[in-house]
Amino acid sequence: MATSDFVVVILAAGKGTRLKSSLAKVLHRAGGRSLVEHVVRACQPIKAREIIAVVGHQAEDVKAAVTPLGVKTVLQQPQRGTGHAILVARRAIPARAKFAIILPGDAPLIRTETLAALARAHRESGAATILSAEIENPAGYGRIVRSDTGAVDAIVEDSALTPEQRAIREINSSIYCFSLDKLWSCLTSLRPKNVHKELYLTDAIAVLRKKGENVQAVLAADPDEVLGCNTRADLAAVDAVFRRRKRDAVMAAGVSIDLPETVLIDPDVSIGADTHIEPGVQLLGKTRIGAGCTIRTGCVLSDAVLEENVLVKPYSIVTASYLSRGAQVGPFAHLRQDARLEENTRVGNFVEVKNSVLGEGVKSMHLTYLGDARVGSGTNIGAGTITCNYDGVHKNQTIIGKSVFIGSDTALVAPVRVGDGAYVGAGSTITKDVPNDALGVARGHQVNKLGWAAARRRELAKSSKKPKRKTSRKRH
Ligand code: UD1
Ligand code: CA
Repeated sequence: MATSDFVVVILAAGKGTRLKSSLAKVLHRAGGRSLVEHVVRACQPIKAREIIAVVGHQAEDVKAAVTPLGVKTVLQQPQRGTGHAILVARRAIPARAKFAIILPGDAPLIRTETLAALARAHRESGAATILSAEIENPAGYGRIVRSDTGAVDAIVEDSALTPEQRAIREINSSIYCFSLDKLWSCLTSLRPKNVHKELYLTDAIAVLRKKGENVQAVLAADPDEVLGCNTRADLAAVDAVFRRRKRDAVMAAGVSIDLPETVLIDPDVSIGADTHIEPGVQLLGKTRIGAGCTIRTGCVLSDAVLEENVLVKPYSIVTASYLSRGAQVGPFAHLRQDARLEENTRVGNFVEVKNSVLGEGVKSMHLTYLGDARVGSGTNIGAGTITCNYDGVHKNQTIIGKSVFIGSDTALVAPVRVGDGAYVGAGSTITKDVPNDALGVARGHQVNKLGWAAARRRELAKSSKKPKRKTSRKRH
């Protein structure tokens, strides 16, 4: 909103030393998205005049992640602390902005409603409003130090706490609102007098208080929202919260999940009512599942689209594929990429399908590979059928008509076409087109040698009666 009087500043320049990673901290993922993307998405609906991200470590990559989300970036090089980051951001903040919501790029669980409430609280009061939280284990966080009257005096970083202050459980979330005129007037007084020799934004609070400015801290209703991701363990804890939120939303919309804590659902996944999800399922990317489907245990669906009443049996993998209503796949099926299954299709055990369309009611139940194939409705693909789609250079198409019967263990050497209503004899290697309604057979003729087996048994019996020669034991 162009008329808005505040900006958002996301601090995203830090390295994240404690993650011991070659990837910048804010690009690490939790709950299916990068940390910084979560933060930006939480900020978008509050309609700030501008969302500005301070970037520094792996600046280009972080910029590439946030620019498509409509975020402006400023470069902080080198990174001299959170206070320095704000000084750098100043040049990007429009002069007309009255206050700024400042938040770190590494606390991704923050909700839009909490930010909006913080901004409302700030409008009613003085120079700075801190979002604080009471947490069980405050180690590592800056603490909110209050005077006897309960007024906020300062934020003291973990490394600088007195033994007495260490017991304080109210922590600084690093999410604040600052009135910008007050902030600019105190930032010049910050000094890098700390273990990291950095300018700490947190020190601005004590400076404001000494000037007699009003500073308040509002407690977050849900302390989970302010969890920062400094370590891999933090990332896992935050991920778990995101995953739980998503499952709760999905269940509230009428989906059953068995042992929900074992099921992983990405944020953009949608699922229709009365769908049932068994333990150990992963639903990833932009997967869309219709109503009344069953996803049985151990399945991984990525960017899959399922219409209604689809059954995916255990341990199947479905990637970027479309399953029409009533389709059944698995167990152990692999729809690898661009498989399209029309209504009531059945794909069974150890069947792999890639870039293929299977018409209505097609059955391919066992041990088969269908790649670059078009299969007409009502066709039955026998066990062990293979489309030989790759000649070492090109991928070639196999076209199978309607109501065709492909016998078991058929190799279809593409490009090849089997006409409507045709039969292919089991064990055939089909290299030439089979016309409509014909029988195609391509295999060696069978020869029966009468009495051969009985004769062989007699031979074997004779040789085993001979006395055994003594042999010296071989050394190993
Ligand atoms: C910070 C707060 C601490 C608070 C905690 C909450 C300070 C000094 N401390 O500590 O009071 O309890 O967050 O999670 O602010 N960043 C920059 N430029 C820099 C340094 C950092 O952009 O020069 C960014 C980082 O990328 C990060 C954020 O600022 O997103 C916070 O920095 P971080 O080093 O994680 O601070 P904490 O030690 O967690
Ligand atoms: Ca942090």
